[in-house]
Amino acid sequence: MNDKGYPENFRQFSLMIVDKKSCIYAIRFSQIALDSLIINLNPYKMKKKILLGLAVILVLIQFIHPEKNESDDQTHNISTKYNVPNDVQHLLTVACNDCHSNKTVYPWYNNIQPVAWMLNHHVTDGKRHLNFSTFTKLPIAIQNHKLEEIVETVEEKEMPDRSYTLLGLHKEANLTPAQRELIINWAKTQMVTLKAKYPADSLKMKKRTAKSQ
Ligand code: HEC
Repeated sequence: MNDKGYPENFRQFSLMIVDKKSCIYAIRFSQIALDSLIINLNPYKMKKKILLGLAVILVLIQFIHPEKNESDDQTHNISTKYNVPNDVQHLLTVACNDCHSNKTVYPWYNNIQPVAWMLNHHVTDGKRHLNFSTFTKLPIAIQNHKLEEIVETVEEKEMPDRSYTLLGLHKEANLTPAQRELIINWAKTQMVTLKAKYPADSLKMKKRTAKSQ
């Protein structure tokens, strides 16, 4: 240890982590590792140090994990108000809900950083656009609009998001034309039901135009 109480080499550092399990020290050490990388620009030593620095950072970030998306609150779930037949529900579960509901089924690689951050980003972004777990809370015109977007994105093969099925992952989410048709027809039927239930005006999205007069 030096006079500031910082570890001076990796061995001291690892002993400290084991002894104190202190993340703050871990972060300080990574700062020191980075500082020494920047100050000590000897090209022969650089490569080794950069690799070591990266390895240290990779180890350290394993201790930091975003909160998981695992609520089970069904109060405003889409199925409380809309008829979602089992076959449609199955497709939404295997192809959409990981990113568009409050309950993500996490794959094993979510235990590895920085993968967990990337997945977390997808889930947060997906839920911001469409969340089946809180669907019935939305104003009715927006519910109608989201159903329309489901039709469009599934028809255009924009959804499920391509990254979801990369490298043979989530095989069941590779929707066949018939499965796409099933989701599209279901969403269209829900829109027809809304049209029959609500005055046409209430289903129109308010145009976001600037005040004209
Ligand atoms: C891997 C995550 C992921 C999966 C799986 C996924 N989506 Fe998405 N979805 C997103 C993200 C992220 C966005 C927002 C950014 C964008 O539009 O690309 C989005 C946007 C959307 C939108 C647009 C909403 C808007 O406001 O524009 C719709 C509709 C949608 N998804 C429907 C679906 C449906 C239906 C499925 C299943 C068949 C599905 N998504 C599967 C991640 C996903």
